[in-house]
Amino acid sequence: MEKMKDLAYYNGTVTRIADMMIPAGDRGFYFGDGIYEVAMVFHRKIFALEEHLDRMERSAAMVRIELPMVRREIGDLLQELADRVESDCQFLYWQITRGTAPRNHLFPAGTASNLYVYSKPWPGVEMSDDYRLVSVTDTRFLNCNIKTLNLLLNVLAAQTAKENGCQEAVFVRDGIVTEGSHSNVSMIKDGVFITHPADNLILPGVERRHMIAYCGELGIPVEERPFTLEELKGADEIIMSSTSHPSMRVREIDGVAVGMKDAATVEKLRKMYLYEVEKRGQ
Ligand code: PDD
Repeated sequence: MEKMKDLAYYNGTVTRIADMMIPAGDRGFYFGDGIYEVAMVFHRKIFALEEHLDRMERSAAMVRIELPMVRREIGDLLQELADRVESDCQFLYWQITRGTAPRNHLFPAGTASNLYVYSKPWPGVEMSDDYRLVSVTDTRFLNCNIKTLNLLLNVLAAQTAKENGCQEAVFVRDGIVTEGSHSNVSMIKDGVFITHPADNLILPGVERRHMIAYCGELGIPVEERPFTLEELKGADEIIMSSTSHPSMRVREIDGVAVGMKDAATVEKLRKMYLYEVEKRGQ
């Protein structure tokens, strides 16, 4: 089969991303009534696929959306689609919405959920030592553990970051740092890895969990506990993590120099990640 530069899939139809047409009655369009996942493809294999499928199932269950096919079929389909893209390294996105029907808040009867997937080439593992953050008040709802399509406040926070010459925003709720607009925030202080508990105030990031596991293997103590913006600013290192940007080292928050004091620990965590990518690709 001829490979494509990039690819989109919607309920069985495959096109280039720019050519995909989605019916306006898809409830993702007017209610954001759906959930999504992002995974990386390295060496043609979907990195941490099972963890992403776990979270997909949890998100769908929390908003009472039925999967359009069983989990295993979704996993197999995602890999098949990734195999049709030219690049070995890809950014793979998929979303599941609550069917297609005339606009009505009530769940539509007798319509299956919709699966939309796209995959595009990605340059490789993205890491940075040059991240700047701006703090913003976290006024999001109290179900941030659901990976819902409803990202309006995350979008606004990301834009605020850009307009302040920063790469990411960091949300602060009632004095407590929760997460970034599209990443988790963790810090290292006196050799301890500290990150917000995986409760309803943050998205339980796959990369956050990987870092906790790497710490376990490296003998780095981990504390999953709330911390303030002041504590964050006083940390030895601050790392923003997400699937597409697994280790972004922060050097400035709200215009003040922070972190960058424990390069050795950051390096160890990055090596673990890169080792995983290579190992799983074999
Ligand atoms: N963002 N918190 C939020 C609000 C996120 O949107 C993300 C991911 C994360 C990190 O999760 P993970 O390590 O599983 O990627 C935390 C994705 C990549 C996005 O929306 O593009």
